[in-house]
Amino acid sequence: MEVVIQPSAEAIAVLVADAIERLLAAKPDAVLGLATGSSPLAVYDELARRCAAGRVSFARARAFMLDEYVGLPADHPERYRNVIDREFASRVDIPPDAVQGPDGNAEDLPAACAAYEAAIADAGGVDLQLLGIGTDGHIAFNEPGSSLASRTRLKTLTAQTRADNARFFGGDVGLVPRHCLTQGLATIMSARHLVLVATGRAKAEAVHQLVEGTVSARWPATIMQHHPHATVLLDDAAASGL
Ligand code: GLP
Repeated sequence: MEVVIQPSAEAIAVLVADAIERLLAAKPDAVLGLATGSSPLAVYDELARRCAAGRVSFARARAFMLDEYVGLPADHPERYRNVIDREFASRVDIPPDAVQGPDGNAEDLPAACAAYEAAIADAGGVDLQLLGIGTDGHIAFNEPGSSLASRTRLKTLTAQTRADNARFFGGDVGLVPRHCLTQGLATIMSARHLVLVATGRAKAEAVHQLVEGTVSARWPATIMQHHPHATVLLDDAAASGL
């Protein structure tokens, strides 16, 4: 695992955007894995700037999202599909139908999960997967206790994650959905390059476990220690437990 410490989220974003720019130059139809949460926002800003400047094009790229809440109305601003459209897809030249996420409003949720796995496989797998990390060590919505062999499935969110994410729902934890669909840890591990971004002191313990802890479902992100090409980009505060 490659660990890179930078002074700011913006400096991290430049390095991640460099990696994505290189990938798309070599493989214009690359498959990207997109993450939500606040951690990748500076990366999306940087990619939007570079796309506007003609440095990078997503015109032939495809993208798959990590996860989605169950049961949010189609037009809810915090539905992850809408977040990705707002923060990334609408700001670059990727065709709207080239971005896919798990369908959190499907009538048959297990079937939607299986269809999502099949769609990723049909696309040839993910070339570069962006990731954040939860304060409890989750990646995507693979909460502590998640099987290290898991694939896309329905999960229940922990009280900790719902409290962490309440800030996106006007601070009201009661408005945060209780369930989600998420790529599994094995799904994420199938991507060819994992790029995890973490900033701020609140992530220090999760980052310590990710980099220096024992691989265990207790801290799901530790599975990344087994990946042949994983890059972890941190600011000083997130790296303070190392
Ligand atoms: C959410 C998302 C994760 C994200 C995590 C951290 O629960 N499902 O994909 O990595 O929170 O979010 P943030 O980057 O806002 O700290």
